[in-house]
Amino acid sequence: MRLPIVAGNWKLNCSRESASSLAREVAEVPVAGVEVIVCPVSVHLADVAQVVAGTDVALGAQNASAQESGAYTGEVSSTMLAEFGCKYVIIGHSERRSLFGDSEKSCAQRHQAVKEAGLIPIFCVGESLEERESGNTMTVVKSQLQALFDLAGPKAFNNAVVAYEPVWAIGTGKTASPDQAQEVHQAIRQFIFAQDSDSANALRLLYGGSVNPGNAQELFAKPDIDGGLIGGAALKSKDFLAVCKAAAPNT
Ligand code: 13P
Repeated sequence: MRLPIVAGNWKLNCSRESASSLAREVAEVPVAGVEVIVCPVSVHLADVAQVVAGTDVALGAQNASAQESGAYTGEVSSTMLAEFGCKYVIIGHSERRSLFGDSEKSCAQRHQAVKEAGLIPIFCVGESLEERESGNTMTVVKSQLQALFDLAGPKAFNNAVVAYEPVWAIGTGKTASPDQAQEVHQAIRQFIFAQDSDSANALRLLYGGSVNPGNAQELFAKPDIDGGLIGGAALKSKDFLAVCKAAAPNT
């Protein structure tokens, strides 16, 4: 049985004060049987770490450098994130790939750096609307996954988390149907299984893209969907907690 995860990706949306109060509201309500993660921007990590310390809520960052140290202005390394109490790091979010030029190779390098620092990457994959409509969903997703195998070998996904986030479903209110999501999740697990069955069986595979309290339960009920990566609905504690509860076993 894989422990379900729900991670809130706050993106560039909270003030210093609202990040701490949102974290407090989330941490106040324990959700049995689900690992709950909050991912503020880097400059809010220290504050939020203090708020969630001693609670069941884990801390995640939204990106990490591929480099450990050196002349890389503006970057933050995984080792530094670990110093602030991060357990998880989102890597390869579609906004990073499309807006900031994070290539498949650089995402793979970042993923590796996160693992080397002892943290757990949440590696995002997903296709655009055009790619889906032209029947290329799995070609795109497999290529994003393959970059990690190319760099790190068959064990690339051991103790990792992968988030399938179709780009057309992010922030649009359009969710992949539970069947559409399950189909891709199953294919991702099979693709990883072909390299390393242990990693594939243990892999926690999250769905992201317009998840909300109204659709979470049906998505999370699918056998290969082990939780969610939540954007908009993570900015209201009540909605986020409802999504977290929907991931609990036997809800
Ligand atoms: P939304 O839940 O707002 O669609 O965002 C999903 C996302 O990008 C999480 O990383």
